[in-house]
Amino acid sequence: MKTMAISKAFTLIEPGSVVLMATNDGEKNNIMTISWSMAMDFTPRFAITTGAWHYSYNVIRDSKVCVIAIPTLDLIGQLVGVGTCSGTDTDKFQKFGLTPLKGIHVRAPLIKECLANVECRVIDIVEKYSIVVLDGIEARQIDC
Ligand SMILES: Cc1cc2nc3c(=O)[nH]c(=O)nc-3n(C[C@H](O)[C@H](O)[C@H](O)COP(=O)(O)O)c2cc1C
Repeated sequence: MKTMAISKAFTLIEPGSVVLMATNDGEKNNIMTISWSMAMDFTPRFAITTGAWHYSYNVIRDSKVCVIAIPTLDLIGQLVGVGTCSGTDTDKFQKFGLTPLKGIHVRAPLIKECLANVECRVIDIVEKYSIVVLDGIEARQIDC
């Protein structure tokens, strides 16, 4: 084996499940793409990495809820699109042809086109590492 740049070592590990995170700031829905994601236990506890430089982060910090949506492979184009523009000036549901569904427990929307959706509550934010810890409250998957 040859050596590789240690600065690139994170790329060996980082692409956990690439998910979409849906939020609602009290007025409008939004979505962001998250590839820094992990399950933390054999419980509905998850962690994502994001920070104050993103509009979505400020929404989940204030609202304390979000929906983690698991995309299908054919949503790859939308996944990249959603992750390269901001909800501050873009209605991403409209732009990328995605459909918001009402959540049961949280004001953030589910994404109809996704394989599964988990309504989540923010239980901790580890600011030093920009880690947001989530507890899943309710999960729904497509009926196939
Ligand atoms: C494939 C992909 C994966 C991404 N993963 C993350 C991530 O794990 N954490 C993060 O903070 N941003 C991540 N981003 C960047 C955000 O999704 C992106 O900046 C997004 O536009 C923020 O949206 P907002 O301004 O509406 O909150 C990713 C982008 C792409 C394209």
